[in-house]
Amino acid sequence: MSPLLHTLHVELAERSYPIYIGRDLLRDPVLLARHIAGGQVVIVSNATVAPLYVDRVREALGERALVTDVVLPDGEQYKTLASLESIFDRVLEAGHNRSTTFIAVGGGVVGDVTGFAAACYQRGVNFVQVPTTLLAQVDSSVGGKTGVNHPLGKNMIGAFYQPQAVLIDIDTLHSLPAREFAAGLAEVVKYGLISDAGFYAWLTEHMPALLAREEAALAEAIERSCAIKAEVVAADEREGGLRAILNLGHTFGHAIETGQGYGEWLHGEAVAAGMVLALELSARRGWIDPAEVDALRALLATMQLPVAPPADMDAAQFLALMARDKKVVDGRMRFVLLRRIGEACIVDDATDAELSSLF
Ligand code: NAD
Ligand code: GLY
Repeated sequence: MSPLLHTLHVELAERSYPIYIGRDLLRDPVLLARHIAGGQVVIVSNATVAPLYVDRVREALGERALVTDVVLPDGEQYKTLASLESIFDRVLEAGHNRSTTFIAVGGGVVGDVTGFAAACYQRGVNFVQVPTTLLAQVDSSVGGKTGVNHPLGKNMIGAFYQPQAVLIDIDTLHSLPAREFAAGLAEVVKYGLISDAGFYAWLTEHMPALLAREEAALAEAIERSCAIKAEVVAADEREGGLRAILNLGHTFGHAIETGQGYGEWLHGEAVAAGMVLALELSARRGWIDPAEVDALRALLATMQLPVAPPADMDAAQFLALMARDKKVVDGRMRFVLLRRIGEACIVDDATDAELSSLF
């Protein structure tokens, strides 16, 4: 079997780019080189991922005039302006010019920081995403949202800045801890729910193979997820409307993450519980069958993901936290609900009574 299993394209006119999905792609000397114009490269990673994968990327790059490694500490708490500054310090000290390409090797944290660094360095240089978590492979590396956190809010400082290419090596998933893998799978399930009932049925059928990290199933799930994300991003790059459907379960999920304290629940875990609440609300409006909510709970349970909000959070706490969410527009909370499995819609008319009845 060819190591390159799928190639997709994010269609954004002059900012279009390919997504490569395959096995052992980090060692491929051609794919990466195709997207690196000059001789200067900066590889940004973190202390966990760098020892596992950066050597492969370095070797694949071959001889280059100037290659600089930046290794950030591991963790969401380092997705900060301080990390950005440490990248600029290293890169300027090494003497990188405007024809440098930044390569992000890691999960969503490394990808978001590196993308923003690339957007800012000398007013913008090329960058390539090499995502190594399932969440980053199906979500954060595609679509050009980059940025860092501020003490007053997550992802509050950033830019829309598209990469030149996304290189997804599914072999990197073998070293990913089970909890991180399951959290990424929650986002995969999300794609089926919001836009492809056939894919959702496929996921239900192939969940044992996915949980066993079987190559063919993984490649298929990643390809279909990226195809959906690419289509949504191509239609609405800057989230003027449609792109918000990618946030199914996220308004509830962000309230859980904030309410529990960041790091207690992984993002994908909070999204899993949030998706159950969103489907429950959709069922109460008569849009989907209650049996479909039970089916989602059963599916998420096989993935060891939470299917209910934390026991110590009540309706009042949820309402207060959700009212502060980024997705509040003109004082109205917005939720992504399902008209049916595979068809999402955005509502801003959920009443406090309707929401409170969920908890
Ligand atoms: P992460 O980047 O923190 O990675 C999770 C953990 O896995 C880390 O400890 C990391 O070091 C480790 N890791 C990464 N790859 C590994 C591998 N192959 N083997 C072993 N360990 C590995 O978390 P994440 O879930 O990838 O991303 C979360 C971040 O992504 C958040 O900051 C979130 O805001 C952001 N995000 C961005 C977008 C976007 O559109 N830009 C979308 C969703 C999430
Ligand atoms: N993760 C949601 C988005 O990229 O819009």
